[in-house]
Amino acid sequence: MAELIGGIGTSHVPAVGAAIDNGRQAEPYWAPYFEKIQPARQWIADQKPDVCIVVFNDHASAFSLDLIPTFALGVASSFPPADEGYGPRQVPTALGHPELAWHLAESLILDEFDMTIVNQMPIDHGCTVPLSVAFDQPEAWPCRIIPLCVNVIQYPAPTGRRCYQLGRAIRRAIDSWTGDERVVIFGTGGMSHQLQGERAGLVNLEFDQAFIDRLINDPAGQAEVPHVEYLREAGSEGIELVMWLIMRGALDEAVRVVHRMHHVPTSNTSNGLLVLENG
Ligand code: DHB
Ligand code: FE
Repeated sequence: MAELIGGIGTSHVPAVGAAIDNGRQAEPYWAPYFEKIQPARQWIADQKPDVCIVVFNDHASAFSLDLIPTFALGVASSFPPADEGYGPRQVPTALGHPELAWHLAESLILDEFDMTIVNQMPIDHGCTVPLSVAFDQPEAWPCRIIPLCVNVIQYPAPTGRRCYQLGRAIRRAIDSWTGDERVVIFGTGGMSHQLQGERAGLVNLEFDQAFIDRLINDPAGQAEVPHVEYLREAGSEGIELVMWLIMRGALDEAVRVVHRMHHVPTSNTSNGLLVLENG
């Protein structure tokens, strides 16, 4: 049986990717952030997962407004970095795990989650930045990647409850896979941020800390929080946080906090990172 070892929640700030790509991790602006994420990098290096399921949102890179899947599961054998307007990031192409991904698709769809199956998908900063946060700058990503893309860009996004339930279903799928892969699941995006309009630059530390506390200790309760509260308290892009509920739903009810950090500033976003271990 495959084993879900743990989960990582992390923001996916593009400027963090640029700082890594341009060798700026030691600069005064960036050094405190990269110091704070080091324990997470150490944890995943020690754990050596075979597969990472990365729950993220595409930012109109792979999908335009022509086609807006609510939940899209990547079953391809590879996923190249997307060109977001400045050329693709110089990061490795992510190698998929088609066998496990198709098992996830089958299990989830028969479990009544109507996933969109994606055979071709460039991955934007929503996915590549969390990989860089976790793995820095390797020649090749050290494990297989299964991208799971969630629409949080175009209203209506799925509810927190639906996301949490999807996480539970992902866990059932992992537990019924006969391979012996060690799996880590990422929930990405957030924390509080708003990129445009009058409230651009909004950071709500109190909301972010309360979200993490409740995600750890009362995830079913957090899953009931409506979208409007994320929008009001955490800004228009704060809604990305519902993807952390998918990660949390896949884990055991009781989890161990391996690492938790928060840092401002990194661009416009309140930048959080959480590493949870099962059991
Ligand atoms: C920023 C954060 C995001 O989540 C994103 O998708 C784009 C930009 C930012 O903080 O700059
Ligand atoms: Fe984003």
